[in-house]
Amino acid sequence: MAIEKPTVQKRVKPSAEPPARLSALDVLREKARQAEAGGGPDRVQRQHVEGKLTARERVGLLLDEGSFEELDKLVEHRCLDFGMADQKIPGDGVVSGYGKIDGRLVYLFAQDFTVFGGSLSETNARKICKVMDLAMKMGAPVIGLNDSGGARIQEGVASLGGYSDIFLRNTLASGVIPQVSAIMGPCAGGAVYSPAITDFNVMVKDTSYMFVTGPDVIKTVTHEEVTKEELGGALTHNSRSGVAHFAVDDDRACLALLRELLGYLPSNNLDDAPLHPTDDPPDREEASLDTLIPPEPNKPYDIKRLIEAVADDGRFLEVHAHFAANIVVGFARFGGRSVGVVANQPAVLAGCLDIDASVKGARFVRFCDAFNIPLVIFEDVPGFLPGTAQEFGGIIRHGAKLLYAFAEATVPKITVITRKAYGGAYCVMASKHIRTDLNYAYPMAEIAVMGPEGAVNILYRRELASSADSDALRAQKAAEFREKFANPYVAADRGFVDEVIEPRHTRRKIVAGLEMTQNKRDQNPPKKHGNIPL
Ligand code: HXC
Repeated sequence: MAIEKPTVQKRVKPSAEPPARLSALDVLREKARQAEAGGGPDRVQRQHVEGKLTARERVGLLLDEGSFEELDKLVEHRCLDFGMADQKIPGDGVVSGYGKIDGRLVYLFAQDFTVFGGSLSETNARKICKVMDLAMKMGAPVIGLNDSGGARIQEGVASLGGYSDIFLRNTLASGVIPQVSAIMGPCAGGAVYSPAITDFNVMVKDTSYMFVTGPDVIKTVTHEEVTKEELGGALTHNSRSGVAHFAVDDDRACLALLRELLGYLPSNNLDDAPLHPTDDPPDREEASLDTLIPPEPNKPYDIKRLIEAVADDGRFLEVHAHFAANIVVGFARFGGRSVGVVANQPAVLAGCLDIDASVKGARFVRFCDAFNIPLVIFEDVPGFLPGTAQEFGGIIRHGAKLLYAFAEATVPKITVITRKAYGGAYCVMASKHIRTDLNYAYPMAEIAVMGPEGAVNILYRRELASSADSDALRAQKAAEFREKFANPYVAADRGFVDEVIEPRHTRRKIVAGLEMTQNKRDQNPPKKHGNIPL
């Protein structure tokens, strides 16, 4: 049943000048009260009825208690058109400032939908730019809580200019300070491009949506009928478009997730991520891993069980969980150190690399490399996904992104081949040849140009065609191929694999590897920037 929205009263212009009898302190307090009231109780109630918190409630929950320092609380818009001169609310639709998460400095802005629908005016854009500039100078993350009807329609191009000022800062800050966006209401039109440039997008289910053009415009232009939720809701962007990295149930879950995510990240590109001491022994053996990988090479298993078995305290914050599930990416800690995990997922599409998986993996690898977060790679990949859809869609270009990202990454890189490492995918998934510091393989690993069946079909095509019992011949040749090549020892013999390890020792090897590489210094040749195949 649709919830009836409470009607809201027309805004009443707050008295421009307080009566002379008020003391200076009273004047300040009255102005602060007006700012904190936002669009008034009716609009606040409407926000709550829709299942959303207000901007100030969100800031309060996001930051360590009592740590918020607000800036520009008394900024007002300058618009005189469309009766706006009579409608001013201090703060002008965005709450901005700085505070702490787990004792660490962050900057933030929270759009206030109760004030002109959180729409972006020239002045509130300046407020956002101010916190972004401070964040860049001080080297601390910026968090944007988005809940806005987009450009302030009454201000026209002044508002568009404000957006452009923000986009420029998002771009210049990329790779310097972490930028995280939460979509907690509408985010439409060009407004989507600020979150799109930031490193992570969290979307709240049912109350948030993002699209460049909404359902009405789409209906007019393409005659397609689609709801707001189908077009740009949290599940659409988490599972189909890949625009969002996390989907959460409500505002509280969203803010809790932002706090957790920030805990894995350094404050800027010159810092290391914070150490989280743990009681989990660095040399903990996990006997279950010796049997996790099925002896049948084509039988699936869940790589997330392996990640959770070896990470500190079994904790893994998966990123992009609903998108391209054939590759798994996310944050974990080993011996208290933050790492980015990239893993093929044999339980989905046999762990093949396809377009979406390549793009997902590449973006995550580049984030980790930009922010000094070491990479741990678990590899079980039969190759790139075959098919015309993939080839026509540009798997060559997209697959190259993942290769490029791993190759250019100078952070510590540790690869563990758990089972298959075939063909081009072997090279791509942080092989020794692209500057990986430690390459391990399990004894059941198969490192070859392709799987035994595929290899036999090509190498013995003529013999198979003329054989009276081609199935028996194929099986015999495949067994010979498996015996000779489908193992880790050819690669170990050449030093492409540093050590063949027992699965139960995985955690110990990774913790020791991260300690060994902690002072790693490596760099790329001087250049303006590379030309990743976009
Ligand atoms: C000024 C706006 C506004 C806007 C909403 N409001 N959007 N005011 N500029 N862009 C005001 C409304 O007048 C209303 O004021 C209050 O916010 C709440 O809006 P409602 O429509 O009552 O809320 P709701 O029904 O929840 O609908 C939300 C909405 C809708 C879907 C976002 O308001 C809407 O469609 N707004 C316009 C969206 C839009 O086209 N924006 C421009 C996109 S182009 P009162 O006083 O009644 O509370 C763009 C370009 C950016 O953004 C380019 C960057 C490059």
